[in-house]
Amino acid sequence: MIIALNNKSNLEKEEFKKYLEELKTVETTETLILCPTFLNISMVSNSNIKLGSQNVSVSDNGAYTGEISASQLKSYQVEYAIVGHSERREYQRETNEEINKKIKQLFKNDITPILCIGETLEERKQNKVNKVLEEELTIATRDLTEEEKKRLIIAYEPIWSIGTGVIPTNEQIEEVFQEIKRLVPASYILYGGSANEENIDQLKQIPSINGYLLGGLSLKVDKLKVFIEKLH
Ligand code: 13P
Repeated sequence: MIIALNNKSNLEKEEFKKYLEELKTVETTETLILCPTFLNISMVSNSNIKLGSQNVSVSDNGAYTGEISASQLKSYQVEYAIVGHSERREYQRETNEEINKKIKQLFKNDITPILCIGETLEERKQNKVNKVLEEELTIATRDLTEEEKKRLIIAYEPIWSIGTGVIPTNEQIEEVFQEIKRLVPASYILYGGSANEENIDQLKQIPSINGYLLGGLSLKVDKLKVFIEKLH
């Protein structure tokens, strides 16, 4: 299983140092991927943790002020990168076409993309879930080779579930996962959105979940430990 920790825009330098010490005490045989803010990436040297970023530039190195390229990430031992998070789609107006460019940059630099997809509550109420997910997946994976599609990690994060404490039913998650599998032969499909040490008892009943993308819980190491213990 993959447990990916999305710190989002949290933890200042000293806080992050303390956090890393705490994370060292997490014992697990699962693959732990830490996605800190860019500034904190170079501070990570925990051997039990793999490194991910929360974003990447659409471009190679060059005159793109404020951007961070995939090859720069690679030079900091980053092995994974979140792309297409709904917060970026909403606040930075990131499009599926840009996400496609980012995924290509990542593969060019041998970094595994963690592609986030998910619908709004409105879209779910209007029965548009499959349509939205198909559009996100089809455009984001355009022109990728079959091998690259297989290497993709996809995180299903219903937008109405992120940070709200509300999670879909197991049947809703299962249905979406089957749809994702029909469209893309990704190696891992993760669930993300208010996953925590309490609802993991329910979520772990879903056999097709290959792991989790954790936001709020990534910041609370004591609760994260309970979450990981309960996985087994
Ligand atoms: P929460 O776990 O805080 O709901 O966030 C999920 C998420 O957006 C992870 O990328």
